Amino acid sequence: MATTEALAQFDIPAHVPPELVHPLGITESAEFLAAPHAFMAGLHGKYPPIVYSPSAQTGSAWQLTRYEDAYFVLRHPEIFTTAGATPFPRDPNNYFYFIPLEIDPPDHRKYRAILEPTFSPKGIARLDESIRRLANDLIDQFIAKGSCEFTRDFGRPLPVSVFLDLMGLPQDMLDTFVGWAIGLLHSQDRETAGRCMKEAVAYMQTVIAEKAQHPDDGVISTIVHSTPGGEPMTGQEIFGFVFFLFIAGLDTVFATLNNIFLWLAENPDRRQEIIDNPDNIDAIAEELLRVFSVTFSGRTLTQDYELRGVKMKKGDKVTSILPACNYDPSVFENPQEVNFHRPRKPNLAFAGGVHSCMGAHLARLEVKISITEFLKRLPDFHVSEDAAIEYWPGGVVGPKALPLSW
Ligand code: HEM
Repeated sequence: MATTEALAQFDIPAHVPPELVHPLGITESAEFLAAPHAFMAGLHGKYPPIVYSPSAQTGSAWQLTRYEDAYFVLRHPEIFTTAGATPFPRDPNNYFYFIPLEIDPPDHRKYRAILEPTFSPKGIARLDESIRRLANDLIDQFIAKGSCEFTRDFGRPLPVSVFLDLMGLPQDMLDTFVGWAIGLLHSQDRETAGRCMKEAVAYMQTVIAEKAQHPDDGVISTIVHSTPGGEPMTGQEIFGFVFFLFIAGLDTVFATLNNIFLWLAENPDRRQEIIDNPDNIDAIAEELLRVFSVTFSGRTLTQDYELRGVKMKKGDKVTSILPACNYDPSVFENPQEVNFHRPRKPNLAFAGGVHSCMGAHLARLEVKISITEFLKRLPDFHVSEDAAIEYWPGGVVGPKALPLSW
């Protein structure tokens, strides 16, 4: 429970009842960073379903932990808008929106439609063979050594390499992209985040100009040459779209893989269960995505609204703690248990509603291929003896590094 003194630094709006004010410390407190998923599962029963969490780091907001509440919020963009809900530093004099995330319906649809052929289940299925080959090439590089740093050697290069190909960017940008993604999403100092933002912005602008001159079949070129609603996009729109894909599509996948492989390393009998049931890989991946979901969904109220008896005001921020919603005991029995035979129920790892993750089919495929191919080549591995697992603070939850041995 926060002391009155600790709360005094925050300007808590008058309409927020004092009994609902709880600084949760999500994404930054020592308690969260010690075991983030257990921490988020533990919010049920410890706090009311909706609390107001003041935070200097992430901004003060209502926090939702119930599946049903998040499901409602995500499906009512007319009440809970994405405008202004993403905590990324942008130059107010040269402001751009993250597209499609920060665009409300009905305009949202016309932007999202541009990349539908690429990110549809059919579009993504075409990548199966090349991602499988890439996974095996990466494993070839460390299998004989008897150990690897999973994040550096597999978890990051796999999704970043797939992303660079998809976007039409050169593979030699891999390390630079990893550095920008980490700096932007995890650095706790504004200076590093600002520097990464500046470098990434400059690079993306050069690439966009180049694709305008020399079209190819990559995603950046598709965006640059698209005409949503019959009109070409402005430079700011193109930039906001390309840049958002970079923010959304890298760190999320490597955090997910890190979490899953930490669990695999610690659970030999469950690895064997996966190896013995290759036909159940869809359900296996879905359950692991539920238990190790990595991110959050921010919204801003367009009007005063009462949810579960809590009176919120226009302009208030609302965050759905998606991992906590995926541990909602009223929806998932024994929520922290990994059970590959659960009754089917969509989980909220990729959120829901109009803004549900556009890269979900790609992310699922990367997760399934990573698990399958890694376990085929390396059925037996463990966390290296002297390794201490530390988690990144910030809006994408996962270990910083994962040293494995076999
Ligand atoms: C395991 C990996 C991933 C996770 C957990 C994840 C999670 C999410 C979530 C929770 C949202 C909704 C945000 C909100 O409602 O506020 C979202 C949106 C989005 N994601 Fe992902 N994502 C992943 C991978 C990817 C990839 C690989 C891409 C593309 C390369 C991508 C592109 C997008 C886009 C474009 C949106 C915005 C969709 C819209 O506004 O219509 N994501 N993602």
